[in-house]
Amino acid sequence: MRKKVTKAIFPVAGLGTRFLPATKSVPKEIMTLVDRPLVQYAIDEARAAGIKEFIFVTSRGKGALEDYFDHAPMLEQELRRAGKTELLETLRASNMESGEIAYIRQHRALGLGHAVWCARRLIANEPFAVMLPDDVIAAEKPCLQQMVEAYHETGGSMVAAMEVPPEKASAYGVLDVAEDLGAVVQVKGMVEKPAPKDAPSNLAVIGRYILTPSVLQNLNRIKSGAGGEIQLTDAIAADAAAGRAVYGYRFRGQRFDCGSKAGFLQATVAFALARDDLREDLRRYLNEITAVDRAAQ
Ligand code: UTP
Repeated sequence: MRKKVTKAIFPVAGLGTRFLPATKSVPKEIMTLVDRPLVQYAIDEARAAGIKEFIFVTSRGKGALEDYFDHAPMLEQELRRAGKTELLETLRASNMESGEIAYIRQHRALGLGHAVWCARRLIANEPFAVMLPDDVIAAEKPCLQQMVEAYHETGGSMVAAMEVPPEKASAYGVLDVAEDLGAVVQVKGMVEKPAPKDAPSNLAVIGRYILTPSVLQNLNRIKSGAGGEIQLTDAIAADAAAGRAVYGYRFRGQRFDCGSKAGFLQATVAFALARDDLREDLRRYLNEITAVDRAAQ
């Protein structure tokens, strides 16, 4: 029997410089897609995959994120008094139980690998998930749930993978594929942010991982890599190099890079168009502005 994946690490200690000046005071993960903060999408996806313990790696200035997960008894009371039961339900659905959420500080932004390592004492000898809330994935079956199901077949470590054109590879960690088994690929290595000519495949890693504790042990030894940061991909690649099983998983769904402005805007439009209460107005507006744009060309 494989151990269940019940813990997830959410590394949210980055500086979020691409969203300055907003991120001077608003953590990126609290920015809203329509009316829900990015982090709520990640929490919901994790819950659907069976995660019971939510470990946030935070940094200075992320207080609003911790506040978001607090209960709001006064607000709940007011909504109850006003008979706003639907809003009350929305609010309650975002509540976290006491003890299911933990916060660890990353004192310096030394990289994603370092952020994950900071949570090592909360992960015993068990597999765990890592989720980057900037990657928002619209999918019929939530992405992490797809991965947990695949992981129960394969074991080992598993990273979510997505096909990208060669000129985009330098923005990602890229898989060196040993064997392509369809949705799952067996991985023999990973290269972080390769130049287009050095990319070993067109499969890029995005922000969902299921990792074995050996990856944390590798992080004890890993020195800084691409961009001077301690890279999570290097620690996973070290597992593959040591002959341990590492897989890529081609998830079904659409991923939005909400760590970039363009991706965030696209996600906003896509998620709004998926909403019954917003679709019609937004579609009319988009049609109007594209018609004006076309006429101007
Ligand atoms: P990014 O590469 O998107 O960096 O990190 P960032 O700081 O969030 O944003 P920019 O590039 O300055 O705009 C990917 C994920 O890794 C986390 C980030 O919080 C984000 O969830 N991270 C990164 C850490 O937790 N610690 C780090 O040292 C670096």
